Amino acid sequence: MVGKIPQVFIDELLARIDIVEVIDGRLPLKKAGKEYKACCPFHEERTPSFTVSPDKQFYHCFGCGAHGTAIGFLMDHEHMEFREAVENLALRTGLEIPTDAPEPEVKQKSVDLLTIVAEADQYFRYQLRKHPHSDSAIHYLKARGVSGEIAAEFGLGYAPEGWHNLMHALGSEENRRRLLAAAGLLIKKDDGSFYDRFRNRIIFPIHDSRGRVAGFGGRVLGDDEPKYLNSPETPIFHKGAELYGLFKARGAVKEQQLAVVVEGYMDVVSLAQFGVHNAVATLGTATTRAHLERLFRYCSEVIFCFDGDRAGRDAAWRALETTLAVLRDGRQVGFLFLPEGHDPDSLVRAEGEAGFNERLRGATPLPDYLLRHLSDQVDLTRLDGRARLVERAKPLINQIPPGALRELLLDRLAELARMQRPALADLAADPAPLPANARRQAAPANQPPMRKSLVRVALALLLQHPRLARIAGDVDALRALESVPGIDLLAQVVHTVTEHPGLSTAALMERFRGTAHAVHLEKLSVWDHMIPEDHVETEFRATLGRLQAQLQNQQTQVLLEKSRNGPLSDQEKAELRELLARGRT
Ligand code: UTP
Ligand code: MN
Repeated sequence: MVGKIPQVFIDELLARIDIVEVIDGRLPLKKAGKEYKACCPFHEERTPSFTVSPDKQFYHCFGCGAHGTAIGFLMDHEHMEFREAVENLALRTGLEIPTDAPEPEVKQKSVDLLTIVAEADQYFRYQLRKHPHSDSAIHYLKARGVSGEIAAEFGLGYAPEGWHNLMHALGSEENRRRLLAAAGLLIKKDDGSFYDRFRNRIIFPIHDSRGRVAGFGGRVLGDDEPKYLNSPETPIFHKGAELYGLFKARGAVKEQQLAVVVEGYMDVVSLAQFGVHNAVATLGTATTRAHLERLFRYCSEVIFCFDGDRAGRDAAWRALETTLAVLRDGRQVGFLFLPEGHDPDSLVRAEGEAGFNERLRGATPLPDYLLRHLSDQVDLTRLDGRARLVERAKPLINQIPPGALRELLLDRLAELARMQRPALADLAADPAPLPANARRQAAPANQPPMRKSLVRVALALLLQHPRLARIAGDVDALRALESVPGIDLLAQVVHTVTEHPGLSTAALMERFRGTAHAVHLEKLSVWDHMIPEDHVETEFRATLGRLQAQLQNQQTQVLLEKSRNGPLSDQEKAELRELLARGRT
């Protein structure tokens, strides 16, 4: 296992390469003013709206909203993993990727963890064939209709009954026992002794993106609780990113351009047995953005297939909420709700591959599901019911990146709410007045204006022109504006640029990759705030000035409120006088 790539290396790499060259090698670009253009490779179009900016080292499509750094381009266009993309770019520059310095031990550990987990995998599989009591396991699998062939294909194993089977087989020495515990296979007791985590269970090995066993799921043979037990999080096993069956399914997913996400390990196994090879399962956790980004690297469509019970419906809605932010144009998501009492396993056994695929074709597209689910909660014959629909749909639809999908959804919402589309767009975008110096230009088609809050303007300017951090002043004081969304993030970005002067927009975005803020920042980094180039600095100062004023106003209100409830100290009085005087100028 390789260590994490240090962020300073990514900065250096992005400073050395030229995104224009990287993209031009794969997609011929034409110069247009300061930028370069081409027909967008991420959606169908005849006139080029795919734009590459050498200044920002960033690309952006005004048609579908796709955008990113050179690393992001290789990931999205060439379907590379993050590390692969970095390696690819490093090769062009001759830079060598360092690993985080103090890591030899950790690095060693991942290799060791993978090795011991591979040994455990062998052990479990061997037990299924050879253990004197494996009949119960074999009988169980037979009773569930799992063929020997498919069991072998998925590497199913058996953890025998008893507390120390694996421990005695693989943990002869203390350091091996500690390694087994670090891999989640042994559990350490308070007295320092160990016991097996998986006992009397069918074992499902879980492979990482390179096909190595990284963890296990274990199902009880009977009706005991818990029904499934999974390896805990370890340095080599991350439930929020791994998907059961993806390594095996990725060929079929790519070929069919469709991934089916189901809930259970048994579902994946049964589907494969009956000829549906493009199914994967989450590891007993909710679907994450990381899961989706991984799937969309192989295919353009994802269908969630949930059990037809209450839990399944709840899980579906949660999946929808997670999906919105990754739904740029060209990506499709659907929902298949199975009949009550069925799961994919039972359904494919009842209806076969053809029946299951037929149901997949009838899956509900995400836009329909979203609007139907929300409409079901209100009375559309009443005006206030339709208003509530708009209220509830708005924040969800606004999470979808700008593009045709979002526009069409807004159209449909307007129809449902019997509202004029422009009125709805105003509501949805909630525009505040433009800053004083801004010159209004036509917003590009397909890109409804983002709401212009002060923080958004400041952040967008800063992301697009990182040099502005120099004139940002004391952003930490602004953090007192707790009720203003994004104020902390603004301070954080200013600090990042101040600590690493010279970062390009792209390098800055890479520093936020994988954080909760990444999507928001990406949007702002390509947001057309309509502030002309030569006003950028003035506008940035003015915007921060307005935030300062808000802060003073807040402080004034606090002191005034306090004075109504009792006397102020001399210092507070002086402060208030000062604030009021400043407010008047
Ligand atoms: P289900 O109970 O729907 O699984 O849980 P299933 O595959 O249909 O189970 P059987 O074997 O057919 O009865 C779906 C998934 O939720 C996780 C597991 O990943 C399981 O595959 N889960 C479920 C747990 O992690 N722990 C549990 O106790 C139950
Ligand atoms: Mn089941």
